[in-house]
Amino acid sequence: MPPHNIIFGHLGLIAGIQKGLPADAHGHYLADQIRQRYPSLGSTFYVDLWPFSDPMLMVTDPDVIAQFSTADHLLPKHPGIKTFLYPITGGFDLNCLDGETWKFWRRLFNPGFSAAHIQTLVPTIVEEVAVFRQDLFHRARDGKMFSFEEHTLSLSIDVIGRVALDTKLNTQGQPSPWISALLHQRQWAAFGLEMGIWMLINPMRYFHMWNNRRIMDKYIDRDLDERYGTRKGDSKSKTIVDLALAGYKSKGSDTNQGKGQIDAVFRKYARSQMKVFIFAGHDAASTTMCYCWLLLSRNPQAMAKIRAEIESVLGPKKDQAASILSNDPSLLNRLTYTLAVIKETLRLFPVVSAARGGLKNFILTDSTGQRFPTEHCLVWAVHHGLHHNSLWWPRVNEFIPERFLTDQERPEELRPKKSAWRPFELGPRACIGTELAMTEMKIVLALTVRDLDLKEAFEEWDRTNKPKGVKTVDGERAYQVQLGSAHPVDGFPVRIVAR
Ligand code: HEM
Repeated sequence: MPPHNIIFGHLGLIAGIQKGLPADAHGHYLADQIRQRYPSLGSTFYVDLWPFSDPMLMVTDPDVIAQFSTADHLLPKHPGIKTFLYPITGGFDLNCLDGETWKFWRRLFNPGFSAAHIQTLVPTIVEEVAVFRQDLFHRARDGKMFSFEEHTLSLSIDVIGRVALDTKLNTQGQPSPWISALLHQRQWAAFGLEMGIWMLINPMRYFHMWNNRRIMDKYIDRDLDERYGTRKGDSKSKTIVDLALAGYKSKGSDTNQGKGQIDAVFRKYARSQMKVFIFAGHDAASTTMCYCWLLLSRNPQAMAKIRAEIESVLGPKKDQAASILSNDPSLLNRLTYTLAVIKETLRLFPVVSAARGGLKNFILTDSTGQRFPTEHCLVWAVHHGLHHNSLWWPRVNEFIPERFLTDQERPEELRPKKSAWRPFELGPRACIGTELAMTEMKIVLALTVRDLDLKEAFEEWDRTNKPKGVKTVDGERAYQVQLGSAHPVDGFPVRIVAR
């Protein structure tokens, strides 16, 4: 570990690092900042922040992460995740569940998120992206600076609503009350001082949380009833929840078969899953779309390449691209450079990490034979630190999508180390929404990058808002902030023009 003070542990070190970072910078920067200060430190190290947190074991080595995340013996999710998610989802969601109950529900929901099924949902996603594209044209005509993130967030929520339950959440227009309640709940549910002392001690906190939960449950129940009560699980339907319900019935678990009502247990778990899909899914995909656009706008060569690829796959008529894609979703598989752009974006700006709770006698070992007991520790696979570790990534700070092309298309020296790219984590607890997110992001790029030029507007934003204190991380103004997962700072202010 870095030099340790017998009384203050690493509090002094972290305070010193934080002084040089923006106050709202995401916590995932810490691992890399510590390694920059202590270059001879290994890729796995302890950080002692007592009394503010459990001791942390920060891991930025893919082979060590694999020992607790991909191997047969896994560490359980850190209890802090449940504390945070419980008020939002009610605790019956995939993120919070463990053991056999988790396995049961993960198996039920896996088919809906499979690559084959997501391909059938492409026309639905294209419809939502078309609304997003139109909104961007309005913004271009308007000519003013605006928050790009506002649009990507709304789009991601609408996509999940449509593909999960065929619900039009319409966040890109007038949002559904349950989405407003969920986003409101996120503020109240945050724990620790990130939410501000007044919110933490506010006597209305528990009322707001109760009320938001009531609103969410009411509207999700209505959507579930509309779909399965009235239409009685129409066999032609193919949403993610439809497939899960079909699996549930085929296991003989449905106690309400034939009574025109949705099974109470299924309802309880489906409600929680809907909330976690929206909650866990929308901001990660949205943030990634913002950074794809940012990096492309800064790298004209990559922009030219992606535009050429999209043109060659979807044809020169930009206004017909949406219908061409809806008619033949398999075309997405030919967008290999587009996929590489998304992967390189997720490398440079990962959104979520994996936090686990250590166990007695669960000891990790690195390639030098150094052993790391995990008992009482928060074991943290820090994806940002892993993706910025030059041991695994040549030309680590450069945006080079080519590193994710095939061996034939990529210079040998750019070959990534196996399993060092883990924005969705790997192993049984890896992100269930990987295919959905990648498909959505490919569609967004395919249907927008040829239409618009984007310019980041941080200077203009700073002139207008006059922020105080440090506003860059390692010279990067578009750094990531802590809002549950990592978001682009200040909502990613931009200006766009139609091409
Ligand atoms: C760019 C987009 C996304 C990224 C980077 C991302 C990342 C991740 C990561 C790293 C995990 C593992 C966390 C851990 O091990 O503790 C995870 C889990 C999860 N993600 Fe995603 N995610 C994305 C999109 C989505 C979407 C679109 C959905 C759903 C609609 C989703 C739903 C979930 C769920 C339910 C889990 C928990 C899975 C389980 O434990 O079985 N994610 N995600």
